[in-house]
Amino acid sequence: MDIRRDNYRIFSEGVIAGLRMKNRIVRSATWDVPVTVARNVSDDVVDYYKTLALGGAGMIITGDFPVTPDGSLTDSTSFSDVRVGGLEKIADTVHRTDERCRIIAQLNTGYVGKTPSERRSPFRKDPTPALAEEEIKIIIMCFARGVVQAKSLGYDGVQFHAAHGTLLCDFLSPYANKREDDYGGTVKKRVKVIRDIVTLARKEVSDFPILIKTNCTDYIEGGVDIDSFPEIAAEIERSGIDAIEVSGGRYDCLVRSKEELGFRPVPGAESHTRINSLDKQSYFYPYIEMLNLSIPVILVGGNKDVEYLEKLLSFGRVDFMAMCRPFICEPGLPNRWLSGEGKSVAQCKSCNSCIYDMYMNFINKNARITRCLYKADKDEHKRAQKWLSSWVENHKVQ
Ligand SMILES: Cc1cc2nc3c(=O)[nH]c(=O)nc-3n(C[C@H](O)[C@H](O)[C@H](O)COP(=O)(O)O)c2cc1C
Repeated sequence: MDIRRDNYRIFSEGVIAGLRMKNRIVRSATWDVPVTVARNVSDDVVDYYKTLALGGAGMIITGDFPVTPDGSLTDSTSFSDVRVGGLEKIADTVHRTDERCRIIAQLNTGYVGKTPSERRSPFRKDPTPALAEEEIKIIIMCFARGVVQAKSLGYDGVQFHAAHGTLLCDFLSPYANKREDDYGGTVKKRVKVIRDIVTLARKEVSDFPILIKTNCTDYIEGGVDIDSFPEIAAEIERSGIDAIEVSGGRYDCLVRSKEELGFRPVPGAESHTRINSLDKQSYFYPYIEMLNLSIPVILVGGNKDVEYLEKLLSFGRVDFMAMCRPFICEPGLPNRWLSGEGKSVAQCKSCNSCIYDMYMNFINKNARITRCLYKADKDEHKRAQKWLSSWVENHKVQ
């Protein structure tokens, strides 16, 4: 007999900056290739968000929307929009499907091709140049406008993508940010870019929820780690952010061995492969145990067993549980867990064939929703595994 989980903490109401969530399950950001490829929101995308809303998540975070165009940042007059048409259809559909489901727009830059300070990467032939201070001001303005626009498009909040080696992630990391001006050096200065965006945005959106996703570890020497993360998180809280989603990893770490990293290096250091035992699940939990924050903490990365998640929630260090790949595999996972149907473990094998599917869709300009190939196409799944295991060798600079 199925035993419902209505009385579980994970299915109790949660609040972020006054925004009430019907439960504590968050769909973590998952890149929307059709939005990026076609720069428009197709019917398939809208239907997919409807499916997610029907599936029972309390909050859905979109794939990252670019607030700057790809390329040069010299002409500030052209950066007035979140640069994709039709984004309001996603917010509207989610709300009409379930008025208690929250929808958060993840904001990132487009491909800027610059970093806080000039840096060589094992995956790039040439060093990436540093941003000029004027360009940082443009980025701040673009994010602030993105926040204003997301609010006007009907979203319940925004999340800054400051994890996995994005531009904002680079500002926060002592590995990537060696600036000696106001935007680098101390933790306070590295977080200044976030503080400036929030301050500028708040002038127009007041207490509209602004979340962040950030790295608790870069898995790299000289980067963010378990010892330095608490101070960064505390400074992020002081900057006016309303909730922090804790993730980790960046591309540059992938040249390290499996033994050094503790997981298989595939493109997506935040998405550990084959989480098949309890000790591999919820792999960023030890990092949040070190935090002392007043804002809600969202944990992502290898969350797979509702019974284990319930146990972690009971310790009081984490407020919300986010998942990405389990939702690609089972969009209706929250409702399945709630009804007590089937196993308490998500069906997702963490094989990462979804990452391959996403990249292939992008490269082939195929505006298709990312699939779980293990379920959808066994031959493609095999090809994906080959591609994943040779990715580092094929992409690192020799
Ligand atoms: C196909 C795919 C697309 C992703 N897209 C994004 C994204 O747009 N923004 C982001 O912050 N993280 C993105 N991620 C990372 C996930 O949100 C998540 O942090 C990571 O997969 C670990 O969580 P999981 O074990 O629940 O999958 C993506 C991951 C995958 C597998």
